[in-house]
Amino acid sequence: MNFVEETVSILEELYRHGWDERNGGNLSYIIEEKEVKDFLKEEKILRTYHYDFDMSSIVGKYFLITGTGKYFKNCKRDPETNLGLFKILDKNTIGLLWGLKDGGGPTSEAPTHLSCHIERLKVDPLHRLVIHCHPTNIICMSHVHPLDEASWARDLWKMQTESIVVFPEGIGVLPWMLCGGIKIGEATAKKMKEYRAAVWSQHGLFSTGRNLDEVYGLIETIEKAAEIYMKISGMKIYSEISNENLKELAEFFKVNYKKGVID
Ligand code: 13P
Ligand code: ZN
Repeated sequence: MNFVEETVSILEELYRHGWDERNGGNLSYIIEEKEVKDFLKEEKILRTYHYDFDMSSIVGKYFLITGTGKYFKNCKRDPETNLGLFKILDKNTIGLLWGLKDGGGPTSEAPTHLSCHIERLKVDPLHRLVIHCHPTNIICMSHVHPLDEASWARDLWKMQTESIVVFPEGIGVLPWMLCGGIKIGEATAKKMKEYRAAVWSQHGLFSTGRNLDEVYGLIETIEKAAEIYMKISGMKIYSEISNENLKELAEFFKVNYKKGVID
């Protein structure tokens, strides 16, 4: 499978879960130069897009990015209309090399995606992927749970055994903000210094990682914890994962969990 085929199968999974209704959600994926060379006959810039933030550290990199207003459910049937392959041309410009053949542009959340890539590459040189989606229970939880990050980490870890193993660093949480701009991009990228995932209250989730399986798995695990939280909150609890149990898990699976949450 090439990178487009791999990507559309994950987009379809996300859609099937109900996490990307209509045009909800977007994805951006760093593609290696060799993969681009195998995919394209020649490198020709079809259109350019300008952003008012500094992309110097990713100039020359290639990104597969979903189009604005495009539906995840249609990506498998017609990838060349719904996705675009871009190159970062200079510190403020990206160029389209392939795709978006109906004249469409990159996702409106491109400033957040690209800012998150810049930040995550500083933390992890193997980082490659950002997925934004609208998981139902994460959105529910942002309505009924205080927005402080320590209590989000603690409550999500306590919902199921695997949470602390999969996201030991916890999760970033942003209050409701206007989406689609540079301001929310900067706020999200700031969270990415510490976390691989950040909640956009009353909107969805931004998740990052090294490959499609890892990021998809991170979204599934966080959303499952939120689903359990929403199902049991308000009920009388008879048994729970204690702080000591969480520490045992972290020690056994050798993960460095966020301090100040359960200590
Ligand atoms: P786009 O259609 O521009 O990708 O926007 C979808 C979305 O989820 C906005 O946050
Ligand atoms: Zn969204």
